[in-house]
Amino acid sequence: MQLPDENIEYHFQRLLVPLHDSWTPLAELQSQHLLPPERLDRLKDEAIKIRGQVVAERELQNPPPEKRPLQPGFIDLPQKLLDGYKRKQDASELGKILRLAQRLRDTVDRVVILGVGGSHLAPKAIFDALCHSHHNEMPSKLRMGKPRIYFEGNSSDSDGLQELFELLENTCVDPDIVEERWGVVVISKSGGTLETAAAYRAVRGEAVKFYGPDKETLRKVIVPITGPKNSRLRDLCRADGIPDEDILTVPEDVGGRFSAFTGVGLLPAAVMGLDVRAMLLGAATMTRRFIEEPFDRNPVLQFAAVNHLMTERGKTTRVTAAWSKKLEAVGWWYDQLLSESLGKNGRGPTPLTTVATRDLHGRGQQHQEGPRDKLINNLVVRQIKHPPVMIGMSDRNEDDLNQFSRKGLPDVMEAALKETNDTYAGVARPTADITLPMISEHTIGQLLQLLMLATVVEGRLCGTNPYGQPGVEGYKRNLVSNLKATPNLPKGEVRDQAKGV
Ligand code: PA5
Repeated sequence: MQLPDENIEYHFQRLLVPLHDSWTPLAELQSQHLLPPERLDRLKDEAIKIRGQVVAERELQNPPPEKRPLQPGFIDLPQKLLDGYKRKQDASELGKILRLAQRLRDTVDRVVILGVGGSHLAPKAIFDALCHSHHNEMPSKLRMGKPRIYFEGNSSDSDGLQELFELLENTCVDPDIVEERWGVVVISKSGGTLETAAAYRAVRGEAVKFYGPDKETLRKVIVPITGPKNSRLRDLCRADGIPDEDILTVPEDVGGRFSAFTGVGLLPAAVMGLDVRAMLLGAATMTRRFIEEPFDRNPVLQFAAVNHLMTERGKTTRVTAAWSKKLEAVGWWYDQLLSESLGKNGRGPTPLTTVATRDLHGRGQQHQEGPRDKLINNLVVRQIKHPPVMIGMSDRNEDDLNQFSRKGLPDVMEAALKETNDTYAGVARPTADITLPMISEHTIGQLLQLLMLATVVEGRLCGTNPYGQPGVEGYKRNLVSNLKATPNLPKGEVRDQAKGV
């Protein structure tokens, strides 16, 4: 049973128009830029109705044309994975994920994760939120068997990948020493995305150079994650002798940006030594709250309804303000989720991620005094993980900080949050808070599932199909056509791996 204080919540009261006895300039601004409570009240029934539809969509075997594409598989997946593991242990999908992760951890000390978009951002968000900020620099003893993690294939940046090869070539010399061995997790649901495929070809070439062409060794250090059908990546891996039981499958009814709780997010999380069951439990709890709770206790419906109404009121730039550096990549993940889900038919809010207090020294100016087109959703963490860094007393007080000697950085953060929210409220700039009791596998599981569910509800509220990404698919096709049309003259001096292995 989950304790209430482990729940994450959405607090939006600050952005409701307050009651006033008389007219003031501030009251006028509030009526223009905040949300009248009666508008939210009117939407509650509609939100509950939409929830019923979203829940019913899970059962649709043959969706009507206006609902296509439909990929609601992510909604029940966390609980299904947990149930399957309980029943079948190692023989379940989660058992397979844990087995492959353990094999990688036993075999190598560095893992290169290849993937782009939905096949990159969830593992990146999970890594940044839950692993040590300097994980890769920590000596192996302090990492306690957790390999170093590198992300590539998320762009066509040649220098970035070349510099990773340089690092691997200079630090990994003897493939018989575990500390010098490296492995690959290659993620592509379609199995054909050019950025990932090209990076994998190069990385696979490096692996062959390092380990030799022996398929048995390569099989142990490469874990592919791909869709069930028509995947060139699957074909390539099979041809390399990687058996199906060592390939993780992204279910057909789970879209790329909704795949955090498939092998896409879970295998990297398990390689990082994280508690994937706690993460799944958090996600499953959020699904249960979404399905069972009334509007006033339902953070999914609240987030979807409030954000939808604020977009309608002209707050078309949606800022995710992370009040912990560790949550910045969760913001990037949400940027993609929102862009691809609702950015269609000439509509959809524009997402933006900021980090406080860093960006209060830049973007903060624009958010406070620039165009009134923003809704700020703060991601607030109540409990920090480590003992606080204190300001402390000093013999030299030229910086005048002795007055704060008994205060620490968490106090600075709290004061900045209060000050910023108050200042924005004072000029009728809307802000709300998603509060996390702490950053843990359990709360990150809740947070990602909350945002995925809310995005689907919001799509249904505004009449946009949240599934599918026709624009991105078009980009992918055009990229391949364009590449075919360019002459085969490589830029710069070619390294060995470009000649093929
Ligand atoms: O959300 C999506 O579907 C996209 O962002 C994809 O995740 C991204 O294009 C990568 O696709 P794939 O996993 O097929 O390589």
